[in-house]
Amino acid sequence: MSVATAENSHFCKDPQIVQIDTDLLIIGGGMSACGAAYEAKKWAPEGMKITLVDKAAMERSGAVAQGLSAINTYLGQNTPEDYVRMVSNDLMGVVRDDLIYDVGRHVDDSVHRFEEWGLPIWKQHGDEEKTLEQGGQPVRSGKWQVMINGESYKTIVAEAAKASIGMDNIYERVFIVKLILDEKQDNRIAGAVGFSVRENKIYIFKAKAVMMACGGAVNIFRPRQSTGEGMGRAWYPVWNAGSTYTMAAQIGAELTMMENRFVPARFKDGAGPVGAWFLLFKAKAINALGEDYCVKNAAMLQDYLPYGNSKVTPTCLRNHQMLKEIREGRGPIYMDTPTAMKNLFASYDNDKKKCKELESEAWEDFLDMCCGQAGFWAGMNITPETKMSELMPTEPYLLGSHSGCCGLWVSGPNDIAPDEWNWGYNRMTTVNGLFTAGDGVGASGHKFSSGSYAEGRIAAKNAVRFIMENNSDPTITTDPKVLANDIYLPFHNYENHKGYSVDPEINPNYIKPRMLLFRLNKIMDEYGGGCGTSYVTGGGMLSKALELLDILKEDAMKMAAKDLHELMRCWENYHRIWTAEAHLRHIVFREESRYPGFYYRSDFNLIDDANWKCFVNSKWDPKTSNWTMMKKAHKDLVSK
Ligand code: FAD
Ligand code: ADX
Repeated sequence: MSVATAENSHFCKDPQIVQIDTDLLIIGGGMSACGAAYEAKKWAPEGMKITLVDKAAMERSGAVAQGLSAINTYLGQNTPEDYVRMVSNDLMGVVRDDLIYDVGRHVDDSVHRFEEWGLPIWKQHGDEEKTLEQGGQPVRSGKWQVMINGESYKTIVAEAAKASIGMDNIYERVFIVKLILDEKQDNRIAGAVGFSVRENKIYIFKAKAVMMACGGAVNIFRPRQSTGEGMGRAWYPVWNAGSTYTMAAQIGAELTMMENRFVPARFKDGAGPVGAWFLLFKAKAINALGEDYCVKNAAMLQDYLPYGNSKVTPTCLRNHQMLKEIREGRGPIYMDTPTAMKNLFASYDNDKKKCKELESEAWEDFLDMCCGQAGFWAGMNITPETKMSELMPTEPYLLGSHSGCCGLWVSGPNDIAPDEWNWGYNRMTTVNGLFTAGDGVGASGHKFSSGSYAEGRIAAKNAVRFIMENNSDPTITTDPKVLANDIYLPFHNYENHKGYSVDPEINPNYIKPRMLLFRLNKIMDEYGGGCGTSYVTGGGMLSKALELLDILKEDAMKMAAKDLHELMRCWENYHRIWTAEAHLRHIVFREESRYPGFYYRSDFNLIDDANWKCFVNSKWDPKTSNWTMMKKAHKDLVSK
């Protein structure tokens, strides 16, 4: 980004520059970051400094902010091998077994800690007084999921992280803009820079290792709820704008499986979760004719063997079956909540108290984690026991911890990872000293809240070891004023031109972040396989998308911010654009449709295991500014 002059800037003219020297810098305050803070403190020798920075307030930041009604990864009696099989099948075979196994063998301990810190986990009748560690049997919604009273889940987890490293070492409401490489050591992290979203302050963090955990990416594609009163509603949390992928890629870290995306089929317009309805309440999704389209469209799965033949159909293929109904006009699709509840009532012999409890559980499922959906039910006069609710696939999201697997290419655990997947420090990216977890780690998935936390712990433990074994001071000599000017460029764009037009929202010399976001959303939706084309794209459309993205990148340098909030919106957009570009480049490179139901390449419209049962990795070279795309061999470590 070029350096701006700012003769006539307002309060942003001379930001205070705060420099912080630390050993381990944790970027993000979500599940992985909280796990990292907790674990790092346990392994750090006396005097090692651990610092955490979150763009929001940790108590309510990230994907778990609203709370959750289930912990989706708890192994209990299941084996890590089985967990690997489930994840691999759901993600159509191209995953890193070593990383998944590693989460599987460690995740339960994290769930036990949550319970110890006060998170109520539902227990089976008779076991209410026992903790999981004491052998209390959880109420499982599915094979992997346990039900919780989780409205305050994130608050509890954040409190433990704060207690571990201390509030003096936590910077909230500071948005990290970019990572910085060491000027003396090749390919070694040296720190990060960002700005306060509340005060006129620029932050420069120097660190010996960085744990990058800013979640996945929302609002890359035009959201379904993009008009009028629903505008701004998204399934995935608005905090996460692709910062993890972009900032790491910009310093040369290798990305993997960025072609993957997640299109969650959700309660329409409120984006309420479906898991409890399908798994706990045993509800069925049907088309407008009342047909169970999964049964009706079973033959469609035969095109996608062996994945189509599995006991639990992969998430993308369930979408694939649903989309056929919508395309052919047999929508709306409904979650048949009345039949499910009637069946459950019958199983309780219509015992009034139990039936009432079930009704409250149905509402609580939303109130714990997606209260907007409960509001939507109230607004639409829906009581689930009498009226069905519509389901709809949302716009695509990029993430690596839910039912998706895009992210960074990381080193695996020493005792399991083959040589080509192991460069010494578990969860370290291909940049020395840069670690990641949760949505940041690619080629795995289905970690969810608990697995992301566990993975944050794994990464932090290794980051501490890295610092102890590579304990040199980072070198950053760039003038802080230059860094500050780069970060504040959108302020300068605004201040230098705002007088030109009557309405400061519209100006030939700059573009506001809201407008730029709409343009990105439109490009991705129309050409990149968004809802607008029923998730279909192809070679020609992808080239057009990349061409338009180049123009968008030029115009992005003219984004303008009138205040700190808009400055944050500008930087989120910069991060989104890069993530979008990586996504498109990967889809172009992978000449098959690995995830039908998430996206289709019309020119390569089937799975081609012979040529593409492999990882797709990419690397942007900070020295030459060139992207390199590559195939990396896949191997199964657990028999499938
Ligand atoms: P997050 O927890 O999202 O944390 C990202 C953090 O990065 C946030 O603190 C954010 O403020 C910060 N950040 C972002 N950008 C920047 C920046 N530039 N600078 C500084 N900080 C930044 N799991 C379950 O177990 N059960 C469920 O029922 C469940 N439901 C879910 C529902 C939804 C809608 C979603 C999206 C996820 C759900 N999950 C669920 C999964 C779980 O929430 C995620 O797997 C987990 O939160 C991922 O952890 P993370 O640390 O990678 O990201
Ligand atoms: S949530 O994150 O918003 O709560 P969701 O409701 O989709 O996610 O799912 C929660 C859990 O249930 C996940 O582990 C998901 O894989 C699983 N799940 C959801 N729907 C189904 C289904 N129809 N069949 C099997 N598993 C499902």
